[in-house]
Amino acid sequence: MVAIVVLTGAGISAESGLGTFRDTDGVWTKYDLEDVATPQGFVRNPELVQAFYNARRSGVVTARPNAAHEALAKLEASLGAELLLVTQNVDDLHERGGAKRVVHMHGELLKAFCASCQARRRQETDISVEEVCADCGVVGQMRPDVVWFGEIPYHMDEIYAALSKAEMFVSIGTSGQVYPAAGFVEMARDSGAACLELNLEATNPAFTQRRLGPATEVTPAWVDEILNSGG
Ligand code: OAD
Repeated sequence: MVAIVVLTGAGISAESGLGTFRDTDGVWTKYDLEDVATPQGFVRNPELVQAFYNARRSGVVTARPNAAHEALAKLEASLGAELLLVTQNVDDLHERGGAKRVVHMHGELLKAFCASCQARRRQETDISVEEVCADCGVVGQMRPDVVWFGEIPYHMDEIYAALSKAEMFVSIGTSGQVYPAAGFVEMARDSGAACLELNLEATNPAFTQRRLGPATEVTPAWVDEILNSGG
């Protein structure tokens, strides 16, 4: 049974050089999310949307996992199925940090899918607006396998089931501005879980415990405490 649910956001990858969304200089200070992160934006201007995700994908490919990703992989190796690691991040730094079972609720930038036939594939290079689907042959319907605003996040049944039974919910490096992830803390708290936030700053008052600081410092310290307590 899942004892700990960890939710991560852009802040855990910030020290790997990947930008966050809502901090000063964040992605949404430079782009309008309606233009690049909605199905309507993709229909209106596929060139802009593909260019936006192509640039982000090449940034992910060259980024390296940090001590926070590695600490969570260590926790997973020790707790196994008692840990559910959920991320809103579309990068693969948890996996490259050693985690084996990562729930990507907002999808994965290193995957593409065809909006015409729904075929999925690994995607490490740019997607062009003229991309041909290898499965159905339709042109121009390949898109990054990321969840856009207005679309339903992935794996929600598994996440809700784990939250309803977890003893602890831990949120790392997320502003808690985007639902449904923003509601996990209240859900976990109402089911009796201890709720811990690891972040540079406090977000939601529903957290019962808080460690403020960079993810690369507070995450390994918290993981060591859990492992040393035999939990
Ligand atoms: P945000 O940019 O909204 O929030 C980043 C959080 O990380 C903030 O609370 C920062 O204080 C914190 N932070 C920044 N650097 C940190 C560090 N070094 N250590 C610890 N914390 C740090 O990013 P998310 O909450 O992940 O969705 O955004 C949620 C969703 O909004 C994303 O998945 C994306 C975006 O729009 C979609 O595109 C669907």
